[in-house]
Amino acid sequence: MSQIRDQWGSRLGFILAASGSAIGLGNLWKFPYITWANNGGAFVLVYLICIAAVGLPIMMAEILIGRSTQKSPVGAMRAVAGPAWSWVGGLGVLTGFVILGYYTVIAGWALRYFAQCVRWSLSDFSPEASSGDAFGAFAGNGVVQAALVLAFMCATVFVVHRGVGRGIERVSRVLMPILFLILIVLLLRALTLDGAGRAVGFIFRPNFADLEPLGVLEALGHSFFTLSLGMGAMITYGSYLRRSESVVRASGLVVLLDTLIALVATTIMFSVIFSVPGLEDEISGSTVGMLFIALPGLFYQEVPLGALLAPLFYLLVCFAALTSTISLLEVVSSYFIDQRNWKRSSAVLSCGAATLVLSLLCALSFGANGILTEFSLIFRGTPNAKLGLFDHLDYLASNWFLPIGGFFITLVCGWVVSRKLSEGELVDETTPSWFHYGIWRFCVRYLAPVAVAAIIIAVLLGLDFSKPLADG
Ligand code: PHE
Repeated sequence: MSQIRDQWGSRLGFILAASGSAIGLGNLWKFPYITWANNGGAFVLVYLICIAAVGLPIMMAEILIGRSTQKSPVGAMRAVAGPAWSWVGGLGVLTGFVILGYYTVIAGWALRYFAQCVRWSLSDFSPEASSGDAFGAFAGNGVVQAALVLAFMCATVFVVHRGVGRGIERVSRVLMPILFLILIVLLLRALTLDGAGRAVGFIFRPNFADLEPLGVLEALGHSFFTLSLGMGAMITYGSYLRRSESVVRASGLVVLLDTLIALVATTIMFSVIFSVPGLEDEISGSTVGMLFIALPGLFYQEVPLGALLAPLFYLLVCFAALTSTISLLEVVSSYFIDQRNWKRSSAVLSCGAATLVLSLLCALSFGANGILTEFSLIFRGTPNAKLGLFDHLDYLASNWFLPIGGFFITLVCGWVVSRKLSEGELVDETTPSWFHYGIWRFCVRYLAPVAVAAIIIAVLLGLDFSKPLADG
């Protein structure tokens, strides 16, 4: 291995990059929708418990594996557990490729809505142009879709190709604070709307009669996606972390930020939605509807200062998505850099190009191409039938790959990695006082594997607990 390993310039750099990976479409698009679909309060509470009891310990497990081995997932699993386990890292690389493939499509939509909102703000808002039909025409326009994923992929490749410190860290240092700022502005505005009270009640007042048992699995599954766990993104980012930083504190901060942002984004969206009588029925049952059909109209017609806030909101979605696509591409590329000794630029360009092919196919699966849009292999004929390439890839990644990867990463960290190593990585004089090594070890050895196994068993039994994501 001839190349010198990149490192984060500072602790803040790592925290911003790792929370940039975690905070993304999962927080701004998926979480509000599944909270809605699972009737709020009780679901949110279960989700918070999953984050604390399963997500946080696995976050620490991934970062400590990365930092102690200074390797990306394949090499890291081999180093801590032997060659028999390197497939877990390999699955992570494949997962990164698959998620990046479909993620860029929604990211591209955010880009288009940002541009559209700037136009609307400068001239006049047109309700027809933000209708469901207009959205359908946009999503079905192959050329526009292809151009959008191309643009987003180029931006991602550009950043990752510049490397960890000069690319990923620098961009995160600029984008993340702007993202927090935009979110605070939007939150302050949203809390003054008529619907704010109802929104807060809906999200934070649990009523367990409203939660179906399978909703618990959806909450758990989402905690993996939203924290970028189960595929080695945090192993990879952890591998660039200096020894002097506290893994516990960094993990705690990243998890806290990700959770806060998901709750704030949901509060903003529901405050807007609840402020308009009758709107709930219109949008219920569609993520796409919430983010790309209902919101623009609401911003321009209902929200004071909406013409300013709408472009800001979509800019926020673009930034959040970009810092996540960066981490996905970094996982895929770092395999070729670390394990195959490729130069960073060749690895990033080739991986970007290969993923672009998948992204283009996904981009055409919203109407532009009949076969890609209509085919249905999973749950065919049921109300949960997955339809089209996009839905299938998300199902594969979120329900199979991430839980399986997470399960084995936890097993390795809890049962194969020695106590001496994990304790040495987690406990030192910088470790915050709220952390208790024994509890962490219990979570990683027993609680997390059992909980994640429940997801895997449910999926094997053919239970579908995840809502289709892109049903316009
Ligand atoms: N955590 C990201 C989100 O919430 C998605 C992601 C998953 C990114 C896995 C990297 C790895 O949008």
